Amino acid sequence: MTLHVLSVASEAVPLIKTGGLADVAGALPAALAPQGVKMTTMLPGYPAVLAAMKRARTVHTWPSLLGEPARLVAGRMDGHPLLALDAPGLFAREGGPYSDPEGRDWGDNWRRFAAFSRAAADVAGGAVAKLKFDLVHAHDWQAAMTLAYQRFAPFGGAKALPGVMTIHNMAFQGYFGAGIFPRLGLPDSAWTIEGVESYGGVGFLKAGMQAASVITTVSPTYASEIRRREFGMGLEGIVAAKGDAVLGILNGIDTALWNPAHDPHLTDTFTARTLPRRAANKRAVEAVFGLDHGDGPLFVMISRLTWQKGADVVIEVLDHLVGNGGRLALLGSGEKANEDAFHAAAARHKGQVGVRIGYDEALSHLMQGGGDAILVPSRFEPCGLTQLYGLAYGCVPVVSRTGGLADTVIDANPAALAAGVATGVQFDGVSYEALAAAVSRAVALYRQPDVWRQIRRNGMKCDFSWAASGKAYAELYARLITEKA
Ligand code: ADP
Ligand code: GLC
Repeated sequence: MTLHVLSVASEAVPLIKTGGLADVAGALPAALAPQGVKMTTMLPGYPAVLAAMKRARTVHTWPSLLGEPARLVAGRMDGHPLLALDAPGLFAREGGPYSDPEGRDWGDNWRRFAAFSRAAADVAGGAVAKLKFDLVHAHDWQAAMTLAYQRFAPFGGAKALPGVMTIHNMAFQGYFGAGIFPRLGLPDSAWTIEGVESYGGVGFLKAGMQAASVITTVSPTYASEIRRREFGMGLEGIVAAKGDAVLGILNGIDTALWNPAHDPHLTDTFTARTLPRRAANKRAVEAVFGLDHGDGPLFVMISRLTWQKGADVVIEVLDHLVGNGGRLALLGSGEKANEDAFHAAAARHKGQVGVRIGYDEALSHLMQGGGDAILVPSRFEPCGLTQLYGLAYGCVPVVSRTGGLADTVIDANPAALAAGVATGVQFDGVSYEALAAAVSRAVALYRQPDVWRQIRRNGMKCDFSWAASGKAYAELYARLITEKA
């Protein structure tokens, strides 16, 4: 029997991406298909999404969706069903999915994503006669209200479908002032702690968590971390109260897009058996970043330059990294102070530190294929994908021991080295001392070519494809549907 799942997300590769959520939402339909799940993805109709939807058909219209005329268009994304909410008043804008061209959050994000979620709840409830679903899977705060609408204001009085709420990052909760509540189109009964009220305002993610049948997050370690205040960021109480209904399912990587043997973005493709071919990619990265050749390791970092990602600590550690014979190629964007500090470091360490501020998908692949080690010193990391790409590409991850980083990298301690299972370098606590020591360890390991080769190969052997996690989601869906029946 085929299960029909509506996956509601605010970004998905290959149409629109700001981070890992897009990688995951884009990969899920193909990951679930072999498990007998037909997944339809629903996205906001940003210009890039509508432009990519060839031969799209209008399957539903709303004269007024929270005050905006809107229509639902149906098409395909990589061969899987796609729905997009075309509401020009909300989504036909220059800039990013969540922010204007200057990087400021859109002031009406609450309305944009409430309307998106309202529409998704309508679709789940049968607004489009031909589209029938068994379950709704909502991702992050932008889609979370789908579950709240299903629960408090279902389309045509329909029975709520089972709902999975996946938290990709607890730091983004979609928290807004109480003044928006009357404009959400919810009954007064939704204004409770068990509903959408959160610390006196409206919490979109919180509302989704309360309405969900099950809450998942993207690694087992993060699932336990968010029970604590430090990681739960105010929602730890709900996480704890939900008990066994909070699960961690590790993200996979899309091996059709991330495979060094076939990657069109590489100067030279390679496998674990042909590691010397990585050299051409390393030269290419050096050229792009204006770096000198060197006999020490080429570190790379591909990241949002934020507090979460430890960008500030990398800046502090750069002199140490260069002093130890390392070089760094950095691709990222984010907080202005971090961007400026990286530029200053590049000027100070000409030929040793190269910086690209911006977003460049193709370059990110080349860096994984040419770098020797990838820095991921996150203060918290729900899953993290760049360390997984690093493992697959022989770009050894140097990571803090948190969240998904703790779950996916095996530290090159003496025991792991002796057992031949080490895949990277881990350190505890994101501080100058800890990261500097980790960088020194990585440089020392790199200077033992046989050991380094073994670490690279171990990582490349790991299977972080979607096979296991696709199965885990499919089993979860099946259980929830059976329970609800
Ligand atoms: P997060 O979603 O928290 O930013 P992840 O590690 O899960 O972290 O995912 C980040 C994704 O975004 C990865 O696919 C990574 O390669 C990509 N990425 C991040 N910054 C850039 C950039 N500046 N250019 C290209 N890709 C980037
Ligand atoms: C979030 C998290 C990241 C995770 C990604 C995909 O952006 O910060 O750790 O890998 O979502 O789940």
